[in-house]
Amino acid sequence: MKFSVIGCGKVGATIAFTAMLKNFAHEIVLVDVNSDKARGEMFDIMQCEAYEPQTLFHAGSYEDTAGSDVVIITAGIPRRHDEPRVLLLERNARLIADIVRQVVNYSPECILFMVTNPLDVMVQLAYEVSGFPASRVIGMGTVLDTARYRAFLSREFTVNARDIDAYVIGEHGETMVPVASNIKIKGISLEQFPAYSDKILTDIIDHVIATSGEVIALKGGTVFAPAVSACIVLEAIVHNASAILPVCTVNERYGAPLSLPTVIGKNGAGTVFDLALTKAEKERLDASVANIKTYVDELHS
Ligand code: LAC
Repeated sequence: MKFSVIGCGKVGATIAFTAMLKNFAHEIVLVDVNSDKARGEMFDIMQCEAYEPQTLFHAGSYEDTAGSDVVIITAGIPRRHDEPRVLLLERNARLIADIVRQVVNYSPECILFMVTNPLDVMVQLAYEVSGFPASRVIGMGTVLDTARYRAFLSREFTVNARDIDAYVIGEHGETMVPVASNIKIKGISLEQFPAYSDKILTDIIDHVIATSGEVIALKGGTVFAPAVSACIVLEAIVHNASAILPVCTVNERYGAPLSLPTVIGKNGAGTVFDLALTKAEKERLDASVANIKTYVDELHS
């Protein structure tokens, strides 16, 4: 497969590096408004070739991205720890619209994979500008928040994070919905674990929502968790894995872009599933969708 990564900041470069380690693509093109940065990342990563999978790296222009199977868009202004992701809307919308126009011109059959924040609105924007079917405009969405949720649960209940079936859905933002009512650990309900208490779960949920800002305040930005979360989606595409992941897509049922468990394979997003939710969780999801819709309205204003 041919990948192109638009935006060679820490997240974009780490996605490219991880994709090489996992041998996802035979060719990866790096594009950045700072061409020296793209070239520097290209040289740094390709010098791993003596010990790692052989991936042909280029640093170039949109023309070099022609014929990409997947285009990963991470470009944009990152947020500060004390500001909501949605403040980036105005700063990033024009930039992302221009990038998408250029990308689809050279790769009209590609899958667009959005990472730039505010993520859900950027998925809506990429969907509108590209004219692609919703299945080929995928946002990393709450795949990242779900990773955090499972990591915190794993730590608290001393179980393997990969055995945990727990989702965050809705907005990749302050109104995200960590679903608590149907968590299973290898088929075992959380309530069966001696360590369980409502307070512990509530504290974990609060931490999932706050942790991005916490990491940004400590190290200036989130990098590894976003990059690995992006790569779990890319892996499902590359291997046509039919993996179920809570990516963000434009959802006709909800009239908005949001993250829900979705089958991911070589053609992008397939079936999107609703989870069984409690009344309170359904109300939180409705509020999350309403929140996303206000930002989409702002995009259109
Ligand atoms: C985060 C950024 C990627 O949640 O939105 O870390």
